[in-house]
Amino acid sequence: MPVKYNLDQIEELSIDKIHEMYRNYVNYGQVNLLSSFSPARLLVEKAEGQYIYLKNGTKVSDFTAGIGVLNHGHNHPRILKARVEFQKHQKMEVHKNFLSPYLAALAHSISTILPESLCMSYFCNSGAEAVEGAVKLAYKSFNGSRSRIAAADIAFHGKLLGSAGLTGSPEIKFNFPTIPNIDRFKYNDIESVRSVVEGNLVSGQSSHYAIIIEPFNASNVQECGGEFLEQLRNLCSHYQIPLIFDEVYTGWAKTGDWFYFLKHGVTPDLLSMSKSFGGGKSSISGFVATRDIFDAAYGRDIDATLHSTTYNGFGEECITALEAISIIDEENLNLAAQNVGEYILPKLTDLALEYPEWLVEARGTGALMGLVLNSDISPIFDRLLDYIPFGVLNDTNFRKKLVVSSVIHELFEQHQILTYFGSNVDVPLIIAPTLMSTEEDWAHLIYALRSVFKKKKYELILKFAAFKYGKKYLK
Ligand SMILES: Cc1ncc(COP(=O)(O)O)c(C=O)c1O
Repeated sequence: MPVKYNLDQIEELSIDKIHEMYRNYVNYGQVNLLSSFSPARLLVEKAEGQYIYLKNGTKVSDFTAGIGVLNHGHNHPRILKARVEFQKHQKMEVHKNFLSPYLAALAHSISTILPESLCMSYFCNSGAEAVEGAVKLAYKSFNGSRSRIAAADIAFHGKLLGSAGLTGSPEIKFNFPTIPNIDRFKYNDIESVRSVVEGNLVSGQSSHYAIIIEPFNASNVQECGGEFLEQLRNLCSHYQIPLIFDEVYTGWAKTGDWFYFLKHGVTPDLLSMSKSFGGGKSSISGFVATRDIFDAAYGRDIDATLHSTTYNGFGEECITALEAISIIDEENLNLAAQNVGEYILPKLTDLALEYPEWLVEARGTGALMGLVLNSDISPIFDRLLDYIPFGVLNDTNFRKKLVVSSVIHELFEQHQILTYFGSNVDVPLIIAPTLMSTEEDWAHLIYALRSVFKKKKYELILKFAAFKYGKKYLK
């Protein structure tokens, strides 16, 4: 007889018990890594809007927005209501023998938001699946006559076998087998893309079936310029290479528009999306293709099922996404994201000028901003080496992570503000509030950051190290 827990029993589990269960049944390294920070040692009672309420009575302001998922905030009442209604009427989730009206309505709705050429949608469950689905479609559109794909040096496209191969971030530390013939170009550098494309021409024709890029790279908080995107579009059109924009993170109001690329008026041939698409509740992702590329790939009946997944377009996921889209529209979340950026970013820039020993640069757009920290810690580094487990020193980003982690720790412990760092070359401290946050929350953040940067870097690093490794290391 299996041991089962009901919801009440789960709510009673202690954090130690949860750690033990993770260690025994999920992933013990994950417990070790996450426990470097306070949240993984605490229990959550509930979450609403911009806030997470802990069982110990603390109210935490969530400046991670669930790492991209929570543009609508935690548990938006309209999202909850839409799901409850769907369940109350016992609507049918999915059935491969029926066509889903929910899926049809969602695909239609997306086509009305995007430029006219982007009209054929497929829905799946994770960002990586969306990326791989788009790549697969681009590949099939040439029916095997093109064999190469190009991706950026700082790309993050996911962690499944195909998407992990496309990911260029230094955080991928193991070479898994992946899709063949991935060429790397320098992000936001058109000459680099051109040399990859033109260096692989065969009889004057491109051998690339796709170029994939995040027009706004979320993990390094780095944006492509409008001129670069236009030149990239022209290059792709010239060589008839399908251009894939990966907006898994930056879509759905994050940067002050439905999608970041819309700010620059440069339209891709395929677009991947996820995260806040599900309104913070449903695990839905998708990709959208132009009709021409779709027709070339899967246009014949015999090819129509070459790409499918079990959970494709579940009813409740689709109606949740539809409600999420309505909320963005009716509550004007695009404007909300613009307001976030217009308030916070100039103040972050001021802080960078005021505290050069802490900060190198502030950057970003809308509700996705980053602070690049000054990772110079040499006076105390030698002392720390005695206390640090050997393996981490192989991490080239170790110093950056240590500094940014000490800031994250202090923001949480002293100001109840939750932030995270981007796992990419600059390891930026990411400031990405939900779009339910208010000016009061933003002012609190700026006040908290100033208080943190007034402190000595070595003090905060030692404090973080003591938290992570235990007080005995602070002799
Ligand atoms: C731009 C981008 N693409 C793809 C992914 C992968 O999404 P998932 O983790 O849902 O597979 C992410 C996740 O953060 C992302 O930011």
